[in-house]
Amino acid sequence: MSLITLPNYKEQSPDVKERFDRLKKRSVKMTVNELYKTFDTKKGPILKNVSFSTYKREFTSVIGPSGCGKSTLIRLVAGLESIDSGSINVSGTEVKKPGIERGMVFQEYTLFPWLTVTENVMYGLLRQNRSKAEAKKEALKWINLVGLDNYQDAYPSQLSGGMKQRVAIARSLATQPEMLLMDEPFGALDAQTRARMQAYLLQIWRNIDISIMFVTHDLDEAVYLSDRIIVLKGNPGEIAEIIEVPISRPRSPEQFLTPEFLATKKRLEALIHRNKEEEAVPVIPTTDLVNEIM
Ligand SMILES: Nc1ncnc2c1ncn2[C@@H]1O[C@H](COP(=O)(O)OP(=O)(O)OP(=O)(O)O)[C@@H](O)[C@H]1O
Ligand SMILES: [Mg+2]
Repeated sequence: MSLITLPNYKEQSPDVKERFDRLKKRSVKMTVNELYKTFDTKKGPILKNVSFSTYKREFTSVIGPSGCGKSTLIRLVAGLESIDSGSINVSGTEVKKPGIERGMVFQEYTLFPWLTVTENVMYGLLRQNRSKAEAKKEALKWINLVGLDNYQDAYPSQLSGGMKQRVAIARSLATQPEMLLMDEPFGALDAQTRARMQAYLLQIWRNIDISIMFVTHDLDEAVYLSDRIIVLKGNPGEIAEIIEVPISRPRSPEQFLTPEFLATKKRLEALIHRNKEEEAVPVIPTTDLVNEIM
């Protein structure tokens, strides 16, 4: 068996390097500073000394083993949990509670089942005291952007999982947040729908001025979508590494098999699975039957 030699994931082609140089000259959108979060003092901190910044219009993913605190981190950014110590600033303002400049999309479908697609998307706009006519016009614009024009009067129960998440994205974007916070938004979708949703999200992100923080379990998804990936290790959730994805934009599915993509994925695998010996699958003794059929 011959294996291909992969480049160093830190090597960047001139266009990727230039893109990162430009990205780092943009204004800082969010600063997370020495963040600590403990739920149960006996277990110790879930998040420990987490510090990083993201830039305007950056696509940042957070990845790490199950239970390492990814959802906790994004919920703290959303203002849905209280911070023990440290701080989070978005556009220079300290996060204390949820705010309209931060939209959130969860893994579970969170649409109101008794409202139509249009009414779901209008919901946040009406809460901002927009007139009904204005909210409807704005909602239809976002429904169009996520490609659901033909479903504006449908109820959530009439939609597939992917469609529901597109409505959830439209609903979050309609109020024009500066940041979109997404916690495994495609986690419940089948592989094909998931791939389509990733492409949709990249298209939407290209067309509007928004910074995205995206939590995922999926290494391919993180590499495919992100500018940078924040890798957390578990127990406690500390930053293991922040990886600059060495892949040019615009992204396309063909890039999944490029040496840079594979090198980045290999690095993520090494970081995430390095303490997993205890979870290794036990070797089951080979039976006579296996010997016969092999
Ligand atoms: N409200 C809470 N009260 C007590 N413990 C909590 C609470 N929320 C999370 N935890 C604990 O904090 C740890 C991190 O949880 P979190 O949901 O942030 O992990 P995660 O990285 O998102 O995991 P997964 O990949 O499975 O979604 C877990 O041990 C969890 O049990
Ligand atoms: Mg989670």
